[in-house]
Amino acid sequence: MLEPVASEIESLLHEERMFPPPPDFARHAHIRSMDEYRALAQEAETDYEGYWARQADRELHWHRKWDTVLEWEEPFAKWFSGGQLNASYQCLDRHLASWRRNKAALIWEGEPGDQRTLTYQQLYCEVSRFASVLQNLGVKLGDRVIIYLPMVPEAAIAMLACARIGAPHSVIFGGFSSEALKDRINDAQAKVIVTADGGWRRGKVIPLKANVDGALENTPSVEHVVVLNRCNNDVTMKPGRDHWWHELGEFACLDVPAVPVDSEHPLFILYTSGTTGKPKGVVHTTAGYMLGTTLTSKWVFDLKDEDVYWCTADIGWVTGHSYVVYGPLSAGATVFMYEGAPMTPQPDRFWQLIDKYKISILYTAPTAIRAFIQAGEQWALRHKLDSLRLLGTVGEPINPEAWMWYHHIIGKGRCPIVDTWWQTETGSIMITPLPGATPTKPGTATLPFPGIMVDVVDKAGQSVPVNTGGYLVVKRPWPSMMRTIYKDPERFKQTYWSEIPGMYFAGDGARRDSEGYFWIMGRVDDVINVAGHRLGTMEVESALVSHPLVAEAAVVGRPDPIKGTGVAAFVTLQQGTSPTEALKQELMAHVVKEIGAIARPDDIRFTDALPKTRSGKIMRRLLRDVAAGREAAGDTTALEDSAVLSRLRTAED
Ligand code: WTA
Repeated sequence: MLEPVASEIESLLHEERMFPPPPDFARHAHIRSMDEYRALAQEAETDYEGYWARQADRELHWHRKWDTVLEWEEPFAKWFSGGQLNASYQCLDRHLASWRRNKAALIWEGEPGDQRTLTYQQLYCEVSRFASVLQNLGVKLGDRVIIYLPMVPEAAIAMLACARIGAPHSVIFGGFSSEALKDRINDAQAKVIVTADGGWRRGKVIPLKANVDGALENTPSVEHVVVLNRCNNDVTMKPGRDHWWHELGEFACLDVPAVPVDSEHPLFILYTSGTTGKPKGVVHTTAGYMLGTTLTSKWVFDLKDEDVYWCTADIGWVTGHSYVVYGPLSAGATVFMYEGAPMTPQPDRFWQLIDKYKISILYTAPTAIRAFIQAGEQWALRHKLDSLRLLGTVGEPINPEAWMWYHHIIGKGRCPIVDTWWQTETGSIMITPLPGATPTKPGTATLPFPGIMVDVVDKAGQSVPVNTGGYLVVKRPWPSMMRTIYKDPERFKQTYWSEIPGMYFAGDGARRDSEGYFWIMGRVDDVINVAGHRLGTMEVESALVSHPLVAEAAVVGRPDPIKGTGVAAFVTLQQGTSPTEALKQELMAHVVKEIGAIARPDDIRFTDALPKTRSGKIMRRLLRDVAAGREAAGDTTALEDSAVLSRLRTAED
């Protein structure tokens, strides 16, 4: 499966620039030197459970202490069994006993420029109030609640309110369509949906409530819908089922106690793309997840009480869960949250916000950085950006050029950059620099977080030599790992714990350099990373094939200068259908309807046949070459009809 991308390795091998932490930064950091880093990693190596137990003792508030640190029956882990805690207590109540009660927990700006600030005390009241609303709607411990909201404070409030009463939430990204929403609601068997009339995006209103209405035609589990009034756009409210957030909140209680739940109580389900047409419900539980996100928030983002921290991810993705809500609030940080898109109204929106709120830590995606580069550095140079002290990236490999631009133009050569590798499945950051300790190099996520046992191996699980491509794996269970796929433990086992015996298979290719730094080479499965968003090529294929005029479809990624990877689709039509530009547009719209705008193909090519092996498997490797405009590399002898390939190429010319 893993195809070594030789040219890529070759070019990255020449990356020798090295940036040690600025001494002043290191002096005040949580982890101040490589010696401290190595001591922690060594402590975890020699006493794995003891190390994690000490962190859990220090970082989490326990309503009841655990009995066992780790129970491991591969691939099922239980961390801190017998313990009880509450994630919302951890993020809110704990801070109310100190001066932090009056500290800003959330500072928010909407796309139209409206602003709100909630102190920890105020956030606590709002969360309690909404927890009471949910209880009044009949939500009980273990019931699933879907959250489909724009980036407004209520998104965090709804998540924490669910956590407060032990109701696992499932946040669905606002860019998903009714169809995608319906599938997820039904998989989760959700009782309540929390949404808004609409959300602002690039000056337009995304009709969230209308999308929910579309989904609810076929979702028998849903009893109530709570609707936040955000954009005042027209909505239809179904009496008895649909309720306005502000009307329900009027009589709700402001002091709902956080329910202590078991360490392994599910905190949330988050759907993510895999290699089949059906998204996976990744299940995270309470204690281990809270430990992973709290500890990484402190050590990787070096959070201090003075910081204003901004992670630009939407709460619909795991980055928004772990590093907008749970991690930083648990660490008592001031979190800045923005509703809109980076380029609206102008490409300096981010930089303007950084100066306005004196943001000190910025965590964003390489795709955003590449879009800023394309817009021109003059947009950033108009702003001071002198409040920044730390920068971060996540979601895809960052090319060294983009890293250097981020370093010079945004960080002014002053701010360390943390390139963090992790996944929805891992819950928290796994490979990353610690900014006061680790010398960074552009393009590498550097070293494992202390206590995370990662390696690069071959198919048999043997570590590969230095600078050789292989599979990225985790060799021991870690606290914030996903516990299962919702209602499908077998698929969990198959996907992550069967490819390589005894190890967690991440689905990424990687190599280690002579200093042990990890260079992530991207996915080795049929998952593509489009603008930092995960997309299963099979999902897009199923969407295409569900159109009555499509006979067969194959979808592959192709390099894209901004998005990292773009979506290229090869489509064969039903007999007698002629390929037209109008049909191409119709198919693109069809994919948007089935999944959402993030899955819209950048290119659709009609072909009379797809390249297949004699056993009928589509040869995606060849399609990737065609889509990228490359000569097909490697072996084509398995191809059943070798003429197909040349026909595909001519179709392109
Ligand atoms: C990719 C996002 C290189 C990788 C937190 C992974 C990265 C997938 C990096 C997970 C990075 C994430 N360098 N690649 N720093 N961070 N990836 O689940 O392919 O949306 O498997 O989680 O993004 O995407 P997910």
